[in-house]
Parts: sequence; C-alpha cells; structure tokens
Amino acid sequence: MKGVQVLGTGHYLPDEILTNEYFEKIVDTSDEWIRTRTGMEKRHRIAKNQATSDMCVEAAKNALDMAGMKPEDIDLVIVGTVTPDMLFPATAALVQNKLGCRTVPAFDFEIGCSGFVYGLAIGYSFILSGLYKNVLMIAADALTTITDYTDRNTCVLFGDAASAVILGPSDKNKVLGFNMGADGSQDKILYMPAGGSRIPASEESVKNKLHFIKMEGQSVFKIAVERMIESLKGACDMAGIEPSSLDYIIPHQANLRIMDAVRKFAKLDPDRLVNTLAEHGNTSASTIGIAFDKFVRAGKIKRGNLIGMTAFGAGLSWAGAVIEF
Ligand code: ACO
Repeated sequence: MKGVQVLGTGHYLPDEILTNEYFEKIVDTSDEWIRTRTGMEKRHRIAKNQATSDMCVEAAKNALDMAGMKPEDIDLVIVGTVTPDMLFPATAALVQNKLGCRTVPAFDFEIGCSGFVYGLAIGYSFILSGLYKNVLMIAADALTTITDYTDRNTCVLFGDAASAVILGPSDKNKVLGFNMGADGSQDKILYMPAGGSRIPASEESVKNKLHFIKMEGQSVFKIAVERMIESLKGACDMAGIEPSSLDYIIPHQANLRIMDAVRKFAKLDPDRLVNTLAEHGNTSASTIGIAFDKFVRAGKIKRGNLIGMTAFGAGLSWAGAVIEF
C-alpha cells in the first residue's frame, strides 16, 4: 500500500426546489439580483420528516454503488456537518446504523463549508497510517433549518444536500496534496450565536433569532477569495504541480464571482471550472462533493484527471486539495 485513492462518489439533493421566484415572493429581492450577484437559480430543501443523516445515507449508497462495495466493507464513517440531526450522538453513528455497516468507528467533524476537503484529509490520514482501510467520508448540511427566511442577505443563498466519497488504499498514491488553515479571530463574520454552551437555547434566544446563520457577506467574500487561492496554491505546491496543469478545478460553490476569481488565478479556461452552483445554491460542506460527483457521472471528469479543490467556511476556515481521480 503506497497511498490513497477515491473509489466512489455520490450525492443527494432533496426533492423540494426553491426557485429565485419563490424568494421574490417572501423577501425584497429579484431573480435578476440573485443571478447576477451569486450565480444561483435554485436550491433544494429537506422535507419535514428528513434530517441530515437521511441525506447522508442516500449519498453514501450512491458512492458505495460506484465503488462496487457494500456497507460492511466500510471500516470508518466520518461526517462533516454543522447541522447534525442532534448535538449528540454523532450523525456519523446514525448513518453507520442506518446503512447497515459493522460497528466500526463513526464520528462527526464541524468545520463549515470547508468540510469536504478537511474530510478528505482526515480519511487520507487514517488510511495512510494503516489504521483503517476503507473510509466513508460524507459532507452534508441542512442549512435551511438554520436560515432566517426574513433576512434577504442570507436566505437566498442556502440549500440542503449531502455528498460522499469512499476512500481506500492504492498502490499508486492519488491524493497528492493538501493545504488547510483556520482563523478563529474571524468568528463573528459567519456564525450561529445560540444553541451551544455559550448561549443555550431559551425563549429569549429564540425570540432574538439567535438560532439562525449570521453573516457579513462582503467580509466573507474578500477573505474567501484570498484564502481559497492560497490553499489551492499550497495544495498544488505539495503535489508538485502548477495550478494551470489541473484538468478541473472545483471551488466551494458559494458565489460564481468567487469561483471565477479562483479559476482566473489558476489560469484555467472557463470549461475547466466545475460549476453546478445554479442547480443547488450554497449547500455548505457538501458543495464540492456534489459538483465532483455530477461531473464524474456526466463523464466529464475521467479516471486519471488531475482535480484541484478549494473551499472556505466558518471559522473562518479554508482548505485545498489536489487529487488524481
Ligand atoms: N436581494 C436584493 N438585494 C440584496 C440581497 C438580495 N437577496 N441581499 C443583499 N442585498 C443588497 C444589500 O442590502 C445591499 O444593499 P444596500 O447597498 O442598499 O445596502 C446591496 O444588495 C449590496 O450588498 P452587498 O453585500 O454589497 O452585495 P454583494 O455584491 O457583496 O453580494 C453576497 C452579497 C452575495 C452575500 C456576497 O457578498 C457573497 O457571496 N459573499 C460571500 C458569502 C458566502 O459565500 N457565504 C457563505 C460562506 S459559508 C457557507 O458557504 C455556508
């Protein structure tokens, strides 16, 4: 065993669709503003009887199917999410049980929209250390459950989804580079104030809308562009390649203007940008995995392609990766 490879990918989007026109009816916004300022057209919302673990299970089934594996082949389940079914037990444990895995270790990690790339690094490290063989890594969020639908600055942006990969050992290493970071001094430009130990849930916290996402969009935008470029460059350096030699770049799908800035830095043509943002909006941790899986299933990303990924999210956090699919 010399390295790690991606054996399968999968994603899940819930049935209900929220269009730009839907938001025109509930807040002071327009289809034109949303399209031109974000690049989004629709997002998906989970049903009342669904939770994050339900989306995870569907994404995982798709990834297992592509890998030609069964739930009992999995040796570790990890889930990156900021919207777990409950604060505890871990959503990963619920997924392990619902899928019918063995009683293998299962835990969550919470790093916002950087979750997919951080998750790749966690899975990679466990496999490379020899501790576990086949890792099911899922990045999933149900941000609509913590979105204030009276706040036009945030509500038009977010949707629900899950994405999954199966990572396993490989004779040739195909996970080539990572670069990650975080800056806890920026904790108030993207956060949910209540529901943790600082401000436990109370009548007052509900009345003051403290269980919803709070975001300073422009501050996040500026830091996102800088850090996504930095982490993509760092991951390419570790892989020993120039960003311009990537076959595809998959940035976190939060805003087309941010994604395009990263593409231009990498000196890649527009058709090398994996862009599925219009179809699902910002689904937090899962966006990169959705875009990856959609392009794999469409036959655009092929085995052997060099893929660059770069994300940013709450923390603030950021993470880049280079893999050979
Ligand atoms: N419809 C119409 N007008 C709006 C809307 C809306 N939905 N939202 C904001 N505006 C208004 C603002 O009120 C402001 O009006 P004002 O000038 O009268 O005050 C005007 O549009 C411009 O606002 P800006 O914040 O400057 O708009 P900007 O061009 O920066 O776009 C956006 C806002 C889309 C939020 C952008 O800043 C952005 O994408 N930032 C990054 C946010 C992000 O990616 N967050 C997620 C990271 S974490 C995660 O992925 C879960």
